[in-house]
Amino acid sequence: MRLALAVGLLLVALRGVPASASDALLARGRAVYEANCAVCHGERGDGAGHAAHMLRVQPRDFTRGLFKFRSTPSGVLPTDEDLLATVTRGLRWTAMVGRPDLPEPDRRAVVQYVKTFVARRAAEPPAPPVVVPPAPPASARQLEEGRRLWAEAECATCHGVGGRGDGPAAQGMKDDWGSPTRPGDLTWRPLKRGSAPEGLYLTIATGLTGTPMPSYGDALEPRQIWALVGFLESLVPPARRLAPEQALGEERAGWMAVRMGGMPGHGMMGRGMRMPGRPGPPPMR
Ligand code: HEC
Ligand code: HEC
Repeated sequence: MRLALAVGLLLVALRGVPASASDALLARGRAVYEANCAVCHGERGDGAGHAAHMLRVQPRDFTRGLFKFRSTPSGVLPTDEDLLATVTRGLRWTAMVGRPDLPEPDRRAVVQYVKTFVARRAAEPPAPPVVVPPAPPASARQLEEGRRLWAEAECATCHGVGGRGDGPAAQGMKDDWGSPTRPGDLTWRPLKRGSAPEGLYLTIATGLTGTPMPSYGDALEPRQIWALVGFLESLVPPARRLAPEQALGEERAGWMAVRMGGMPGHGMMGRGMRMPGRPGPPPMR
């Protein structure tokens, strides 16, 4: 009797202690993840979700801690803001569709939850992001320098002289996860990372970790990186600047998977955990 009372009091006492903010944040992140991300990235974050087999560009296996789209130097983990940008904006042409429709606190929570899959995170202090200096004004001289660097830095070996992804080294490439990959056609906008020149700058300066795309932040001056960005912009004909709302590449398949993963009850592809009142993804195009 006394023991039962003591246990009871202890339980009441424990219940009274509020769970730490980060526990609550992670619980929220997990709910968002299981409703919106696990269908592709898998419940364990290993990229083996139910929809992965439908996709050419595979969902990221987070456990290895290799992230392509960062503001941090090559090989370094991304910042929270980098991950938030990926979740919000998506990676165009792939099934990784942007989710600005999720409330920002949910997106921030899911970023924290994704980080729990990254084993090497604990051992590595965060590194400061690379600073993108303001772009110098465009000029004929800058364009000429960009064209010259495109050849000298051997971008064309992979991307092709005209940036269409048909360079001599483009065949048979694999990424660090063992999947076939290739340099995309750079003469379209948006690219995976979007259309902002600052994004192109960061890709060139920091590379795309886990892929053959090297980082040039140590080899080139900021002025030279901006010259390359200017040259790449000059390769895009107006007809290839697409409206942001157009569905590109595997985005349609991505939305289909998101819908199935978020079905109430047990959807076709996974546990449905859709939260009431949340707006769904935009209608199919
Ligand atoms: C329909 C499938 C699909 C869903 C759903 C999905 N992703 Fe992805 N995700 C992908 C694919 C495919 C890639 C890899 C794209 C690439 O490498 O070009 C990716 C890549 C990523 C990356 C790595 C970015 C980098 O820099 O390498 C992060 C982080 C990520 N997803 C987070 C999320 C989160 C968080 C959610 C849920 C809100 C989510 N994803 C939902 C398919 C999906
Ligand atoms: C060894 C081959 C290789 C070289 C050299 C190379 N790239 Fe890449 N690049 C790639 C691959 C492969 C990708 C696609 C990676 C992915 O999406 O997973 C890529 C992607 C890119 C992207 C991003 C496209 C997007 O969709 O966001 C840009 C921009 C880019 N490269 C510019 C350059 C520039 C500029 C140079 C030279 C300074 C260069 N690359 C040199 C292989 C290369």
